[in-house]
Amino acid sequence: MTTTASRAVGRPLARIEGPAKVTGAAKYAAEYAIENVAYAWVVQSPVPRGTLTSVVVDPTTEADDVLAVLWHGNAPRLAEPKDPELAVLQSERISYRGQAVALVVARTLEAARRAAQLVRLEIDAEPHDAVLREDHPEIYTPEADPDSPAETECGDVDAAFAAAPVTVDVRYETPALHNNPMEPHATTALWAGDDLVLYDSNQHPPGVAAAVGAVFGMPADRVRVITEHVGGGFGSKGTARPNAVLAAMAARVVGRPVKLALPRQALFSMVGYRTPTLQRIRLAADRDGTLTAVDHQAVEQTSRLYEWAEQSAVVSRHMYAAPNRRTRNRLVRLDLPTPRWMRAPGEAPGSVGLECAMDELAAELGMDPIELRVRNEPRAEPESGVPFTARNFVACLREGARRFGWEGRDPRPRRRREGSWWIGTGMAAATFPCNVMPSIARVRRSPDGTVDVSIAATDLGTGARTILTQIAADELRLPPERVRVHIGDSSLPKASVAGGSAGSASWGWAVTGACRELRDSGGDEATFDTTELVEQQETDGKHAYGAHFAEVRVDADTGEVRVSRLFGMYAAGRILNPRTARSQFIGGMTMGMGMALHEEGVLDPAMGEWVNHDLGEYHVPAHADVEWIDAEWLDEADDELNPMGSKGIGEIGIVGSPAAIVNAVAHATGVRVRDLPVRLDKLLPHL
Ligand code: MOS
Repeated sequence: MTTTASRAVGRPLARIEGPAKVTGAAKYAAEYAIENVAYAWVVQSPVPRGTLTSVVVDPTTEADDVLAVLWHGNAPRLAEPKDPELAVLQSERISYRGQAVALVVARTLEAARRAAQLVRLEIDAEPHDAVLREDHPEIYTPEADPDSPAETECGDVDAAFAAAPVTVDVRYETPALHNNPMEPHATTALWAGDDLVLYDSNQHPPGVAAAVGAVFGMPADRVRVITEHVGGGFGSKGTARPNAVLAAMAARVVGRPVKLALPRQALFSMVGYRTPTLQRIRLAADRDGTLTAVDHQAVEQTSRLYEWAEQSAVVSRHMYAAPNRRTRNRLVRLDLPTPRWMRAPGEAPGSVGLECAMDELAAELGMDPIELRVRNEPRAEPESGVPFTARNFVACLREGARRFGWEGRDPRPRRRREGSWWIGTGMAAATFPCNVMPSIARVRRSPDGTVDVSIAATDLGTGARTILTQIAADELRLPPERVRVHIGDSSLPKASVAGGSAGSASWGWAVTGACRELRDSGGDEATFDTTELVEQQETDGKHAYGAHFAEVRVDADTGEVRVSRLFGMYAAGRILNPRTARSQFIGGMTMGMGMALHEEGVLDPAMGEWVNHDLGEYHVPAHADVEWIDAEWLDEADDELNPMGSKGIGEIGIVGSPAAIVNAVAHATGVRVRDLPVRLDKLLPHL
């Protein structure tokens, strides 16, 4: 907490860049007017596995307008990147359908697209395998990550199950989910001599500069990444994507600036998606609801190209007390695109399994699902024994229940009917870890008394720019109008990624430090680096919590599900700006509604692709799907985290909100759907 009475933090300041955005003045990566710019269009592999032997350019397109057609046969050689997805056009191997195998550069966008459509690829296709299954012969346990091992085990799980009077043993499945930020991934690349400038849509300008620099054999400071505004990312822009390298490569080859904006359809294969999950959850309990064992096992997919592990079972490591525990995350490599971060990776799908299984256990015990959770509240981290810095989960359950109107709920399913609608309510826990990452901020005071704050952060549309302004204003006792925050440029002091719900905590800490140093030194400039402070922090015991409540109605004749109310009650540290915070919470909850009811990548195993790869057929919630939605929070002070006492709020809204809806559907109808999304064809036969 700040030591002085705060004036700006905690107030609902409107987004500083709001007017620029609504008037269209704000520029996104593909919107800069750059002279002599050429346009690139990606040619994607039409097969999931094989080798590309040659690329034949259609003679009718070899008009003046086409400047280059690049593929592994003629593309400049790149240094080997850490992320194999960035080794674009370097190999004849095809690892998934939709992979970039050629790039057309032309004077106009239309010419580039037409030439790309008419390019002929000669490919030796090979048999492929695109189906995730629990009995896959190549299931393996990924290498241990010291911060988050793939497997944990305490006590004697099997003995506890053998002895327990009540058990639940269920399988839950979540489908492939696709990142669809409103602004697609895009890059405009310019070479100035040997220096590279990228206007790029991403969540981490310094990371993109380093990654792109590395493949071209350049130090990061010779690449400048400008990311002034970003239209969403959800994690898919957390690291450099192939479009950044492709645009830079093309610009070097044709000797002109190049613009590359991915079309919507390409996002389904080129930018990372949430892996489908197959989860088995076993809960053992005494008759009074005290858990004696929790066993959560998840099987997920990764690509042939790159190992990426979602870790869905991790959420079961700290939610509930039980002496015997097992979590296990395993992978299968398939001939499909590489999954990656998508809002609350791990927690979002994992909480579907755990929180729906808890609901099933409550039904089995004839116990209220809130009381079941209260009964199993741990006093410290169940696996490590590390105390929680602040855990107000039970308070969220109690206060959320009060505000939602939970009391007096008849726990029996299929009891409330209004006309053709079955009506029910459900709840689930929400949680997300408090991550923090090293960052550096610089503050300069001008003779006119205004202050410039600089940090290479990005604002995905979340309000980061606004919050950093509030923090600096309070630390320097200035009105927010006298603070100018500069972000979105890799040449500014190094910041961590806008991900892991860690932006405000990480950047805000650096800004606070720099402001305090400026104040204390009395000078005109101060810089503060949080690296050492962050590295000294214990990571266990630090989580935000919450509770989600849903009311649904299900049409008995058609199976249509409507979410009539969705409510989130959170304990997420100090809320820095209630307006932008509410927007984060209800945004996450809306995405959770999509996960429960709408979103699903439908795989065609024979083609090795998701057939519904556009927003016409991949459904995300529209305004009409959201009837009543709200978020509230407890006034929580967690002084052990960072000087602001804030916890991350970007992801917690999608953790548990899907389970609350699934549980409400089960309560309304008596039908328990265990493979998401809950579609009407899964309900209708049982209504
Ligand atoms: Mo988020 S998946 O940490 O950008």
